[in-house]
Amino acid sequence: MIHHRFKNKRIGVLMGGLSSEREVSLKSGAAVCEALSRLGYTQIPIDVDRDIAATLKRERIEAAFIALHGRYGEDGAIQGLLEIMQIPYTGSKITASAIAMDKSRSYDIFRAHQLPTPDTLILNREEADLSPKKRAPFDFPVVVKPVSEGSSVGVSIVKNSDDFSKALKTAFQYGEEIVIQPYISGMEVHVGILDQKAIGAIEIKSKGVFYDYKAKYVPGMSTHIYPAPLPEKVYKTVLDLAEKTHNVIGCDSYSRVDFLVDKDMNPFILEVNTLPGMTETSLMPEMARENGLDFDMLVEKIIETASTAFGKRDAS
Ligand SMILES: Nc1ncnc2c1ncn2[C@@H]1O[C@H](COP(=O)(O)OP(=O)(O)O)[C@@H](O)[C@H]1O
Ligand SMILES: [Mg+2]
Repeated sequence: MIHHRFKNKRIGVLMGGLSSEREVSLKSGAAVCEALSRLGYTQIPIDVDRDIAATLKRERIEAAFIALHGRYGEDGAIQGLLEIMQIPYTGSKITASAIAMDKSRSYDIFRAHQLPTPDTLILNREEADLSPKKRAPFDFPVVVKPVSEGSSVGVSIVKNSDDFSKALKTAFQYGEEIVIQPYISGMEVHVGILDQKAIGAIEIKSKGVFYDYKAKYVPGMSTHIYPAPLPEKVYKTVLDLAEKTHNVIGCDSYSRVDFLVDKDMNPFILEVNTLPGMTETSLMPEMARENGLDFDMLVEKIIETASTAFGKRDAS
């Protein structure tokens, strides 16, 4: 039974924002607003800009549904502001958000907990310039990606040394540190977590070389298979690993944990998304639907778990 703490509150749906995933977030936000209003909640759509604190105050926002993705929205920044303002918000808190958004720190934690993740080299700009030998520590193909981006922005698959420096340049456009990993060929599998429990695993098949920005957001550029066609034992292992991953990072409420499963059925954790896409056709809502929770029910479940970590203001 859902306890409706927020039914008569002014809920700000935070969307858009300042990251490279702005467009996606606007779609997530619009879908969440529609669901909240169908459910009878008072929702106020808010496009997040640098005046967000003033806007939250002016609009007398009493709870926030965060439909942002990427920098400032998924990395603990907005969560910090909401903590200061004592406005309960959805999803993970500051620390988990910040760690999950930082692939370098995430991989360290996965490894410390014996959670399987690809071999990884982290390079900062200086190291990349100074020690060219260190640059290609793995046999080609390798994957080069920014430490803190999402939606495959800045990610390249490099097949030979000719394309390597271009890939580095691309990734460094998004920050001071980059990730280099061996390319793992296999099945792309995403696991939805709701209320700290894995609800299922979905396979993504991309038309292109990998699950890039286009494959993610252009209709027809990827297809999904639910449940992911893995042997039962492997499927269970992946769900179990996803729950552990969500927990060791310290996530709250919901997330999506992404994997590659190689041809020998070894799973590798790629990342945790603390604010996965929330359009009606996004993967998390699709998995929820397969588990009997339609989009509105999912949105309701998420908003009703909104809280702050510190100085909880009683929202009831
Ligand atoms: N080591 C790897 N081997 C093969 N493909 C990879 C690897 N790392 C990333 N990819 C591909 O790039 C996509 C984006 O990488 P990911 O680490 O999830 O970053 P993002 O935060 O941008 O989604 C993945 O969904 C996958 O298709
Ligand atoms: Mg990803």
